[in-house]
Amino acid sequence: MISKEMTKALNEQINKELYSAYLYLDLSARAERSGMPGVANWFFIQNQEELTHAQMFYKYVLRQGATIELAAIAKPAVKCKTALEMFEKTLEHERVVTASINNLVDIAVKEKDHATEVSLQWFVNEQVEEEQNACAIIDQLKLAGPNGGGLFMIDRELAARVFVPPTAASAA
Ligand SMILES: [Fe+2]
Ligand SMILES: [Fe+2]
Repeated sequence: MISKEMTKALNEQINKELYSAYLYLDLSARAERSGMPGVANWFFIQNQEELTHAQMFYKYVLRQGATIELAAIAKPAVKCKTALEMFEKTLEHERVVTASINNLVDIAVKEKDHATEVSLQWFVNEQVEEEQNACAIIDQLKLAGPNGGGLFMIDRELAARVFVPPTAASAA
């Protein structure tokens, strides 16, 4: 059993994860249009990841016998054109998501809700990885410069990313 406040916060997190999926789908389309199929692939897979995050929260709320309440998903507000701008946007967004996950942990600690706190640990670790991934790609893009061979190479590398679903053991 989880509290009303926790149920509301977890439902809001489902919306945030779905918004993340939407944001990355938008970035994927932009990258595709700008002739960067590898960047487009990276963001498409990021979209899939975010959908699984939303599903993990959804399943957790149901497992606790609480109510799912889905809200409208906002239109992604992005104006990025270059790959660097896209990954800077990603880092900025993931930092907001990290703060949101930390806030969920704060509520769980405050309420002595150990089950939710333990389930959230997977997401705490995932956010470290998300920020680290975005930072690493930003560093590479800065090294490569705005155009030419460097960007071509990075695009080819990002084309190799494949979707790895979270394992049952690690899922919340
Ligand atoms: Fe996420
Ligand atoms: Fe991830």
